[in-house]
Amino acid sequence: MKYTLLVCCALWQLAQCKTLPDYLKQYSCSKSDPNYTKCILESFEDSKQHFLNGIPELNFPPFDPFLLPIMSVNRTINDLVSINAICKNINVTGFRNTILDDLKADPQKHTGEIRLTVPWMFLDMDYEVLGQLLIVPLQSSGHFQGNFTDTQMFVKGSLKTYKRKGVDYFKVNKLNAKITIGGGHVQLTSSDKEYQYAADLISDFFNENPRRVLDAVNPIFIEYANELFAAVADQTLAALPASEWLPA
Ligand SMILES: *[C@@H]1O[C@H](CO)[C@@H](O)[C@H](O)[C@H]1NC(C)=O
Ligand SMILES: *[C@@H]1O[C@H](CO)[C@@H](O)[C@H](O)[C@H]1NC(C)=O
Ligand SMILES: *[C@@H]1O[C@H](CO)[C@@H](O)[C@H](O)[C@H]1NC(C)=O
Ligand SMILES: *[C@@H]1O[C@H](CO)[C@@H](O)[C@H](O)[C@H]1NC(C)=O
Repeated sequence: MKYTLLVCCALWQLAQCKTLPDYLKQYSCSKSDPNYTKCILESFEDSKQHFLNGIPELNFPPFDPFLLPIMSVNRTINDLVSINAICKNINVTGFRNTILDDLKADPQKHTGEIRLTVPWMFLDMDYEVLGQLLIVPLQSSGHFQGNFTDTQMFVKGSLKTYKRKGVDYFKVNKLNAKITIGGGHVQLTSSDKEYQYAADLISDFFNENPRRVLDAVNPIFIEYANELFAAVADQTLAALPASEWLPA
């Protein structure tokens, strides 16, 4: 991988179950279900709470709040947009209110797509950043808080199988997430009071026209989101044999 995303797996002792935990069995959908998509749709709604709180048996991290101890981003799109940042103590809340707009799954081809809306998210983290954001130089470190509204996600993907000790397991084959954040309001607090003006320059620029900034950084955001989703999916899928995820 050409860039680093530090998903702290250390917290998640890679579990290996033979079967789905008992409390999740009721949500299982069988491959032969004539309306598999309908079953998955209902399971998704009914089991949402478990996924939001995390499922340690399946290496699935809690998603609300979603905590990431550290993440580094180092990407240059062009002369106008480059970000070299280290974010620490990342805390995202709001996924609890996610609305499922659409879901399709094909249990024979192992493909699926999902459309979600997150009405409101709050992001809180420490940051150090260098780079350029359109007309604003990025050189600041401190504390970041931001509200983001109307986030639309469309994730499409497919799985492939591989063998481990003679048993079939699933892993991500392709994953393509498209995400647009509708709007937002941010506040940066410089760790050094003397440089608060540099932090204000960034937050004022963002708040003046969130769309302009969100569109400019979207390619970077998408790239890291795709990597994060694939990492979470792979470590979750690896917890159970394929036959448990997709019973006959
Ligand atoms: C599957 O379920 C959906 C949602 O209830 C329904 O719209 C669709 O007609 C069903 N399809 C079949 C083949 O039963
Ligand atoms: C960021 O990326 C640039 C260009 O790819 C590289 O020269 C630089 O060393 C990287 N910085 C860090 C901190 O990894
Ligand atoms: C994450 O943020 C939420 C909302 O601000 C807060 O209630 C929670 O305590 C935070 N969690 C951590 C570990 O900081
Ligand atoms: C985010 O929204 C909450 C609730 O409306 C508000 O209290 C907080 O000040 C906002 N934070 C920022 C950075 O806009």
